[in-house]
Amino acid sequence: MLRVGIVGIGFMGKVHVMSFTDKPLIPNGTVKNAKLTAVCDIDTEKLEWAKGVIPELKIFTSFKEMLSSGEIDAVIVATPHYLHPIMGIEAIKQKIHVLLEKPVGVFTKNIEELNEISEENRDVTFGLLFNQRTNPLFIKAKEIIDADGVGTFKRVNWIITNWYRPQKYYDNGEWRATWAGEGGGVLINQAPHQIDMWQWLCGMPNKVRAYCKFGENRDVEVETDVTAYVEYPNGGNGVFITSTHDAPGTNRLEIIGNNGKIVIENDVLTYKKLLVPENELNLVATADLRDPKNTPQVEETIYTSKDLGEVPWGIEHALVIENWIDAIEGKDKLIAPGIEGIKALELINSMLLSTFLNKEIDLPIDKDVYYEELMKKCATSKYTKKWSI
Ligand SMILES: NC(=O)c1ccc[n+]([C@@H]2O[C@H](COP(=O)([O-])OP(=O)(O)OC[C@H]3O[C@@H](n4cnc5c(N)ncnc54)[C@H](O)[C@@H]3O)[C@@H](O)[C@H]2O)c1
Repeated sequence: MLRVGIVGIGFMGKVHVMSFTDKPLIPNGTVKNAKLTAVCDIDTEKLEWAKGVIPELKIFTSFKEMLSSGEIDAVIVATPHYLHPIMGIEAIKQKIHVLLEKPVGVFTKNIEELNEISEENRDVTFGLLFNQRTNPLFIKAKEIIDADGVGTFKRVNWIITNWYRPQKYYDNGEWRATWAGEGGGVLINQAPHQIDMWQWLCGMPNKVRAYCKFGENRDVEVETDVTAYVEYPNGGNGVFITSTHDAPGTNRLEIIGNNGKIVIENDVLTYKKLLVPENELNLVATADLRDPKNTPQVEETIYTSKDLGEVPWGIEHALVIENWIDAIEGKDKLIAPGIEGIKALELINSMLLSTFLNKEIDLPIDKDVYYEELMKKCATSKYTKKWSI
């Protein structure tokens, strides 16, 4: 059985450790196709906790030592964000399969290097923990889009403001919500899941204009409130809104195209298929707005998470881990290939860069300019430790 290590035994690392036991934190969230053999953290209390859960675990305070110990074939990285690409590159170089927690990193400059090393080492499986890719509602939306059920996109709007985080959340870890510790706020920590889904379903825009508010309603350095307008190469557009201080928040995705419309809200997907595509309706519709010919005729289908086989948080993670292990063993394709992580990160970086420079940004972004701007923010950050392994 494949031997897995985990680095970073904090909030998420503990969820992953428990998923290798018969007492997962989320019922039925057990990973069955691999064995956890080692853990690593710089905090020895975390290692003692892990040993208490699985006494035969080998424990390490050095990531490099765990990689070269001969105790693991694969590693899950659940450390703070700046370490993800550094640890990913090191693991791949040592021919250890790697699954990085989201986001893939903080800035695209070093993710290009990570992806190049991954391309040069195709025998090493590099995955990302984008657990929302197992959400049946988004899988259904992708099926509809891939079958041309929405047609040419016109507009894609996502309001995801139910990532509520109080001040005490921000105060519970020194790396959190700082430029040098976390590398951003709601965009880099909470919303990467939706930003990945957004590009997974609709592709990448080519222009971004965003307004990020830093420390809005919370005493933090980074963005807690974002409104972004994007344009797609086909002329379609979209708006992405996210925050951590709206109460109650909203999670509503709307995708509209020439052939139909998808809305996902409150665990329900509503698909309205246009019986006559809009460009054809436009040709037959008349100037009389009361004319029934002008009303779009739709066939509506409603899918609920429950109907589609809901996958609760925690089980999503176990599914992604099991899929990564199957991919390592050549039994399946990755649900979330690591090299795709750069797309969500590019969107995140572009929204921040647009705000930093107060202008519209063309994609792909200039990675060096973003890095320079980020470093200026880091120079003002209250977090002063350096991230290295
Ligand atoms: N996929 C999800 O649903 C989800 C949910 C929460 C967090 N996350 C992600 O998980 C990651 C960790 O977040 P968290 O909330 O668990 O953070 P955390 O602060 O609770 O845990 C981080 C751990 O990493 C350890 N660490 C730091 N530097 C290290 C080093 N050089 N070597 C070894 N260990 C080191 C710390 O001691 C700590 O135990 C982040 O990337 C976060 O975005 C993902």
